[in-house]
Amino acid sequence: MKIAVLPGDGIGPEVTGEAVRVLEALGLPDLELTFADVGGAAYKAHGHPLPAATLDLARASDAILFGAVGDPDCDNLERALRPEQAILGLRKELGLFANLRPAKVFAGLEDFSALRPEVAGAIDLLIVRELNGDVYFGDKGIETLPDGTRRGWDMMSYSEAEVRRIAHVGFRAAQGRSGKLCSVDKANVLETSQVWRDTVIAVAADYPDVELSHMYVDNAAMQLVRSPGQFDVVVTGNLFGDILSDQASMCVGSIGLLASASLSEGTLGLYEPIHGSAPDIAGKGLANPMATVLSAAMLLRHSLGLEDQAARIEAAVARALSDGIRGADLGGNHGTVAIGSAIVERL
Ligand code: IPM
Ligand code: MG
Repeated sequence: MKIAVLPGDGIGPEVTGEAVRVLEALGLPDLELTFADVGGAAYKAHGHPLPAATLDLARASDAILFGAVGDPDCDNLERALRPEQAILGLRKELGLFANLRPAKVFAGLEDFSALRPEVAGAIDLLIVRELNGDVYFGDKGIETLPDGTRRGWDMMSYSEAEVRRIAHVGFRAAQGRSGKLCSVDKANVLETSQVWRDTVIAVAADYPDVELSHMYVDNAAMQLVRSPGQFDVVVTGNLFGDILSDQASMCVGSIGLLASASLSEGTLGLYEPIHGSAPDIAGKGLANPMATVLSAAMLLRHSLGLEDQAARIEAAVARALSDGIRGADLGGNHGTVAIGSAIVERL
């Protein structure tokens, strides 16, 4: 079981360090971890945010544990050399098209939600975000107009084939949960969304046991804070999923708790916390590693088929939280390493 560990920038190395400690504490016999540079750290060391050696390692692995990318030192580089291109490149090059972002309120943490506790307590949803298409990967550019001002553009598109494969992931996820799937689009304005909606409806014929609904993204953003308990599985495009998943994290209470899986058609997957590199707290030992530890649990489940070990990690995190182990993100004073140790003790 070969795992590529790509810590990246900012708090990435600190939080992946704790996730690795948790993985190692499981004592799995054939686990082989290999570290490589990615993001701003890779740019500084090798001149590129996604060096060929890192991409080759990721390709040759069974799964990738990813920290975070993003470094203010790199903000003025040309776009192709910025740290963010590393994660976008990995998603595209490895065909990681299906992004699973679960959001659930942990018992006892309702008060940390930006929502009223009784509203927050009902949150248990899964955002299935398409990750290989949309405005992220369309033709884009900046041109200077005759009057000297600039115009920027990014082309949004989805083909039926792209929508079909993510829709299947959404429907299958719904079958494994409450049997409800909400597809989020902007079909009242965007042609891209019309193709999206028509295609999701066509795929629904294969899943008569799933109850499909549709929602415009502006309404979905509103409903997510009004009554998040109505959502179970949400399937949506790359840009809408990016925005709604950050919003969902604040409904849960801390972005430091949300894990994610980015899956390909096979078993190869990349697992990362949904938070970023948080340069303001990097190197201070303050970051909550729970989102990365929970991402490692998803790695065991989705890429290695080790459901029991995944559940063990999730139970240890839940127990640490209910025992009052809280990082600064949850008003506590436990540092990164202390939280990692608390999880290891509870495994
Ligand atoms: C995310 C991040 C990325 C995205 C950035 C870092 C490119 O916000 O994973 O949600 O926009 O997809
Ligand atoms: Mg995002």
